[in-house]
Amino acid sequence: SPFSLNLIDEIESTNRTLRQECATTGSVLAAEWQTAGRGRLGRHWVGSLGGSLLFSVVWRFNGGISRLAGLSLAVGIALTRALEKQGYQDIGLKWPNDLHCAKGKLAGILIELSGDTLGPVDAVIGIGLNLRLSQSERLNANHAADLSDCSGPSPARNLLFARILNELAELLPSFDQSGFAPLRSEWEDRHIWQGEQARLISPDGLESSGKIIGIADDGALRIAGENGLQVVYAGDISLRKV
Ligand code: BTN
Repeated sequence: SPFSLNLIDEIESTNRTLRQECATTGSVLAAEWQTAGRGRLGRHWVGSLGGSLLFSVVWRFNGGISRLAGLSLAVGIALTRALEKQGYQDIGLKWPNDLHCAKGKLAGILIELSGDTLGPVDAVIGIGLNLRLSQSERLNANHAADLSDCSGPSPARNLLFARILNELAELLPSFDQSGFAPLRSEWEDRHIWQGEQARLISPDGLESSGKIIGIADDGALRIAGENGLQVVYAGDISLRKV
């Protein structure tokens, strides 16, 4: 395995620690509990003691930040493959990088990059996956679902963790070589909003709407909007169903 794994009981945030330590490629840190788990767009990430997978992986990519636009979507594919191999069948992807089942959001991915426009880039890839949330944890995390909501076997955490690491060991080097394009159709096949009408909300609150056509080769979302074809990148927009 290309990974060296550390497990810890409690930590603020596995992403934060790996970044602070400038951990080298292949480092994996998993925690039972995070006191300040971070989500995308400055949100908080709620885990469950013993009922979540909370971990981060460091991976070094060649050739500049602009090549990594589709990385979080690619990681979503690795998670989906692992879950499907474990027997879960209704796992969907919500752009840019959430895993869903019919009842709601199962897992999120937070990628933080350090590097420059040309040289190698270190990515800290943080993954939070709900296996079994308590009632109050569900309430604290809006629209959260867990694996017991999905059709499939009862959640087996260690096996699932090993499967995810195996999928990442295969996917991260191949993404470094070939980018997101070879994964695009697999992603679209699981895209829960493919072909749907959606509202797009920019960080300054501006709204527009359009039909979601699909994903571009670099991981951008393609939308047929009021003013023609629009291409949006993660971080620039959040999506709501009409
Ligand atoms: C999202 O907003 O959907 C992304 C959530 C990512 C949460 C994981 S849990 C492990 C890692 N450490 C963090 O602080 N966040 C990520």
